[in-house]
Amino acid sequence: MSGANLWVRGGTLVRREGNAPGDVLIQDGKVAAAGQVAAPAGTPELDATGKLVFPGLIDPQVHFREPGLEQKEDLASGGLCCIAGGVTAFCEMPNTKPPTTNPAALEDKLRRADGRAPSDFAFFLGATAENAEQLGEWESLPGCAGIKLFMGSSTGNLLVEDDETLELVLRSGSRRVTIHSEDNPRLSQRYAALGKDVSVVQHDDVRDVECAVKATKRLLRLSEKTGRPVHLLHCSTADELDLVREADLGDLVTVEATPNHLFLRAPQCYEEHGSHAQMNPPVRGAHHQEALRRALVEGPVTCIGSDHAPHTREEKAKAYPHSPSGIPGTQTILPLLLTAVRDGWLSHQDILRLCVDGPCKVYGLEGKGVFDLGSDGDVVLVDPSVTEALPLEWLRSRAGWSPFAGRELAGWPVTTVLRGEVAYHDHELVKAPGGRPLRFRVG
Ligand code: DOR
Repeated sequence: MSGANLWVRGGTLVRREGNAPGDVLIQDGKVAAAGQVAAPAGTPELDATGKLVFPGLIDPQVHFREPGLEQKEDLASGGLCCIAGGVTAFCEMPNTKPPTTNPAALEDKLRRADGRAPSDFAFFLGATAENAEQLGEWESLPGCAGIKLFMGSSTGNLLVEDDETLELVLRSGSRRVTIHSEDNPRLSQRYAALGKDVSVVQHDDVRDVECAVKATKRLLRLSEKTGRPVHLLHCSTADELDLVREADLGDLVTVEATPNHLFLRAPQCYEEHGSHAQMNPPVRGAHHQEALRRALVEGPVTCIGSDHAPHTREEKAKAYPHSPSGIPGTQTILPLLLTAVRDGWLSHQDILRLCVDGPCKVYGLEGKGVFDLGSDGDVVLVDPSVTEALPLEWLRSRAGWSPFAGRELAGWPVTTVLRGEVAYHDHELVKAPGGRPLRFRVG
């Protein structure tokens, strides 16, 4: 048997066509029926009365730091943040130490996650000038989420800054390539020109809009030239959204937004949270935030990824620009999006589109879905009556801080089910970590 039986009874099912009272029947770890459904006698029950019943969310961009940077997070603690936040599948980035740039490093991460990660997992391979030609062969390895390429340098030393190598990577393989799009030559110039009294409040000017726009223009041109699908990670500017619209390349270009860019706003976030709001590309002003919010509903944003990127308090306490960039966030995706629903600019169905169907489509993920028959029995119960200020002690990241601690909640995931087994309930992991490698359609 590959999973358990469970009858999730009496909640409000959040489905693509709308919300309705109903149940989910999971048999052998897979969704066997959803709607008003009965269960065979003896099926274990989970009472969902008064709860919203979501499918497990997918977070396609996290940095869990193992191996090499475990003081910030590891696959167990990062996976715990996922399961606690209703995220039952994650795709993890390659800027670890050593970076994930070859099959042995990928294999090592898969081994480390087995038995320790409480959510399902896959890992990106990082693109470099040295491995560009082999990526086409390696991208279809089991457990590989695809290729990640940094056009601008951020945490770690993965970087492809010139068009020639970028084109080489795009011509090697066929899966969608995920891109950190900031123009490194411009970033280098801007850091070199910094004065002594620079502060984190200037972060979105240091790595300015032009850094992002310049790189994204290059990316769109090369994607069109090579015909290779690309995914613009953590889009931060209204200008790039316009560029994607104008390029009109259809499914060739997909776009991710992060909760950080959607729910934090410059300059207030830097004034209030200092380096705890510092990430790359930066959180920007109201104009960009509003454009990103609209793009969730109108396009071209295809999916939401947290870019969970923890650093320790001590590391973050360094003086800017030496404070590292990155914000933990996989556990707060769902509560933040529920706030957006309460505030009227998003619907529960948008959450399904952006956090389940979007990631499945962008990455060719198989076996996950919105209570689709035969998909994994991953279910999240949300208590819509939890409306207090988010207590820091509910958060499970090793980082121990979040710019969203203290925010008023509009609901909280109280129970997470992975393949028919209750994995997390009432702030506790209640089952041994049982995450498995994700499966993808390749080729
Ligand atoms: O702010 C960021 N932090 N952006 C990235 O792209 C990398 C990440 C990290 O790994 O810390």
